[in-house]
Amino acid sequence: MPYAHITGWGMAVPENILTNDDISKMVETNDAWIRERTGIHERRIARDNEFPSTLGVEASINALRVANLRPTDLDLIICTSSSPEYIFPATACLIQDQLGARKAGAFDLLAACTGFIYALNMAAQAIRSGSIKNALVVGSETLSRFVDWKDRNTCILFGDGAGAFVLQASEQPGGVLSAVMHSDGSGADLLTLEGGGSRYPATEATVREGKHYIQMDGKEVFRFATRVMASATQEALDAAGLTIEQIQWIIPHQANIRIIQAAARGLKLPMERFIVNLERYGNTSTASIPIAMVEAVECGKIKPGEKLVMVGFGGGLTWGALAAEWTGPIPSKGHVRPEQYRQFARLRSLVRRAIRFIEGLLYRREL
Ligand code: COA
Repeated sequence: MPYAHITGWGMAVPENILTNDDISKMVETNDAWIRERTGIHERRIARDNEFPSTLGVEASINALRVANLRPTDLDLIICTSSSPEYIFPATACLIQDQLGARKAGAFDLLAACTGFIYALNMAAQAIRSGSIKNALVVGSETLSRFVDWKDRNTCILFGDGAGAFVLQASEQPGGVLSAVMHSDGSGADLLTLEGGGSRYPATEATVREGKHYIQMDGKEVFRFATRVMASATQEALDAAGLTIEQIQWIIPHQANIRIIQAAARGLKLPMERFIVNLERYGNTSTASIPIAMVEAVECGKIKPGEKLVMVGFGGGLTWGALAAEWTGPIPSKGHVRPEQYRQFARLRSLVRRAIRFIEGLLYRREL
């Protein structure tokens, strides 16, 4: 049975920074309160021309470059997002088109902030089963578009950004070792974005009622998160036959420093074993774990051969954890420049649209 290795990683965040002081000009809050209660100092906010697909493509190209893999070699693209570009088409298809990944199947996976763990596990299982060889998993968000900038309970928390991993089959042991996925829909109402779905299609009334904004019971979500982080980590370790002493790093969902500190207490681990960068990005939902990973790998903290657990939680309610051995790119000959495929992808997309248009004219003539 092939192993599923994480061979490429990349991230992309908007340039625009929103500090706590900036937010204190919009709602009754202050920098000291936000830092103390959440650990967040600032977050990135997408410009009008930045979307989950554009950030996702940038992160994906960086990940493909590290993996030294052509977009045309991808068999599968899973995009997970709590702020997808549309209900449909899937953001994954937009990314597929912009990358020029002509062989890849593409779909979106929705498990709120746990999405990246779920998606990584699905891609790994597809590789482990032998049905595919190369997969791209993308977590990408422009959550700022769904934040009520008058609600101090939520607007201090969220930020925009994207992270992507390339997974590849290899006979070498390692890569994804185990994963656990959980849900509890009885807590569905604790964290929601109701407007625009088929229960509350967008109307003047839904907009008036603010249904197009994130609604959250912060205290309850906090309580739930502190309960599940340590237990899910332990479950993933048990499933991989590992003890906590055998792993070097925990990469938690970057929601609130106090939630991470509670997980550290639950696992009896020092905070130094946790990768944390939420002070600079806030909660980027599905992108938070890969962004934290990418930064930790790039600054040399996470090294090949080390074992780690990624653990997340979010709306749904959902939570899960995934244990992996960090291996790095599969050595290969040649040097791939995935960004060069973008021009080709643009041209290919245009040609396909033109062909579809001409076919449409001919078809109408035949009728
Ligand atoms: N600035 C200043 N004061 C604020 C505030 C803000 N941004 N938000 C709330 N407060 C006030 C409250 O009104 C309350 O005042 P009161 O005691 O006079 O009523 C006080 O601060 C304490 O509020 P509370 O809601 O108990 O704060 P908290 O410590 O629970 O922190 C959250 C609030 C939202 C930061 C915290 O509950 C949290 O992080 N929850 C988890 C959210 C999460 O992770 N969501 C994403 C999941 S993927």
